[in-house]
Amino acid sequence: MSKLIEKIEELKRQRNAVILAHNYQPGEIQDLADFTGDSLGLSIQASKTDADVIVFCGVLFMAETAAILSPEKTVLLPEKEAGCPMADMIDAEQLRELKQQHPGALVVCYVNSSAGVKAESDYCCTSANAIEVVESMPKDTEVIFVPDQHLGRFVAERTGRALILWPGYCTTHVLITEEDIKNARQKYPDAIVMAHPECNEPVKAMADELLSTDQMLKSAAKSRAKRFIIATETGIIHSLKKQNPDKEFFPASDRGICPNMKKITLEKVLWSLEDMQYEITVPEEIRIKAVKALDRMVEVLPTE
Ligand code: 13P
Ligand code: SF4
Repeated sequence: MSKLIEKIEELKRQRNAVILAHNYQPGEIQDLADFTGDSLGLSIQASKTDADVIVFCGVLFMAETAAILSPEKTVLLPEKEAGCPMADMIDAEQLRELKQQHPGALVVCYVNSSAGVKAESDYCCTSANAIEVVESMPKDTEVIFVPDQHLGRFVAERTGRALILWPGYCTTHVLITEEDIKNARQKYPDAIVMAHPECNEPVKAMADELLSTDQMLKSAAKSRAKRFIIATETGIIHSLKKQNPDKEFFPASDRGICPNMKKITLEKVLWSLEDMQYEITVPEEIRIKAVKALDRMVEVLPTE
């Protein structure tokens, strides 16, 4: 074990801390974490852990979600500039205006959103349970879905419901193109193409399976196929390879890298535990409203 990792482990014990990492984190961070997962799995983990401190290796909205679900714990984000451009594409004021234009509509926000937006929403969802969340809503009610238009279109198609969408998008997933999938299919004709619902529609239309990151891990493990083309952030390939040493995984595009996810380093995790920084908190009046939308999300598990 390297000196750096030893120091982190020691401080983790002293602080009674747990390290959570998203599947897009750099490989060494995923290897260090106590729990690695998708947004839904990490939210569930954050709400259940009995640690005093959660070190969140991911981006701001994930640490905020943990702070909303576990207000008695200290939630640390090792890099304060690790944000999510998609989450920043709508704020609470813009959502309030949209709600005024559609009185009576229920609001579903993707977990990739600020605490303020969650507080203005009725339900939260992740890419793993978005279909089930929308299906759980009364059929005769209008539904606003923010901020990801691409996940929104996927949910609208699968549920047969006309959702009111917001033009947000993931700045990383839209860099993966139809051309990339065509080229990868030519190179690896026997491979299964797995794409994340945040990809644009032409890419999704060419994929064999549309899955959240944890669903990709489960599907790859179960599949009899030996080769996979992965149309999402390339960090997931670390876990895919580690969990399936007998299978091969190829990124659909080398551009599928989220610069914010890659801002977390082992050194920053150490400093985070040493200096108890950067603490993420949510004002109580916002937290109380946001937790309702998150509680509804955590209850709706994806159907396998
Ligand atoms: P999931 O891991 O929930 O599929 O999320 C994708 C994502 O873009 C997180 O920022
Ligand atoms: Fe946001 Fe996309 Fe990065 Fe996820 S991969 S944090 S949605 S920019």
